[in-house]
Amino acid sequence: MTPTLIVALDVPTLAEVGPIIDRLGDTVSFYKIGLELFSAEGPDVVRAVTRRGKRVFLDLKLHDIPRTVERAVRSGAALGVDLMTLHAAGGKAMIQAARDAADACGPHAPKILAVTVLTSLDQSDLADLGIARDVRAQVESLGSLACGNGADGIVCSPREVARMRALLGPDALLVTPGVRPAGAELGDQKRVATPSQAVRDGSTHLVVGRPILEAPDPAAAARAIVAEMCGA
Ligand code: C5P
Repeated sequence: MTPTLIVALDVPTLAEVGPIIDRLGDTVSFYKIGLELFSAEGPDVVRAVTRRGKRVFLDLKLHDIPRTVERAVRSGAALGVDLMTLHAAGGKAMIQAARDAADACGPHAPKILAVTVLTSLDQSDLADLGIARDVRAQVESLGSLACGNGADGIVCSPREVARMRALLGPDALLVTPGVRPAGAELGDQKRVATPSQAVRDGSTHLVVGRPILEAPDPAAAARAIVAEMCGA
């Protein structure tokens, strides 16, 4: 699979979305909409992106009872999104309900991605939650649970991607934020890798926000990242 660049639309209003997409033009065909923008603007923001012929990763990290998640996946599918996230910690029945909902939507169903352990959590946070396993073992366990129950893949840090590729096999989607071109500002990202390293390790989709959106020339920054991904 040719790896795909996804640009994170981490902006607060719909008004900012059109100019970003227009500026990035044909270089970027896939955009991530997260909780901030979706909570502010709702489904209109998804429609604004798909109307421009772009694909959408709707990153709402669903975690609820199976029936509710099933219906949320159906709603996302009706909007025409390509990727949706849920928390693997929602359990087998919830993940299977998301799978069933996607299967019922036919060939244009969204792919279901699982979030394992948020990168904001460390070992002591897991202990507070009653989890004794180390973070890495917990990521592997939840990744296997999700993909064993119908998820199409997971979201993972670029530092985990090689191990998760080995564990989950060749078909799993591995979507990695935390990507930084060599020499770029890290911002609050700590566990980063370059685009070429992430692709070599097995990422199928790279999610990049600030290194593109805050670049003096965002289109040039996106082109450079795509070139690096293609050369990997
Ligand atoms: O600006 P930056 O490239 O860091 O943005 C990365 C995107 O991926 C943001 O939307 C961020 O919320 C998301 N993300 C992340 N790290 C995670 C999970 C999600 O950076 N562990």
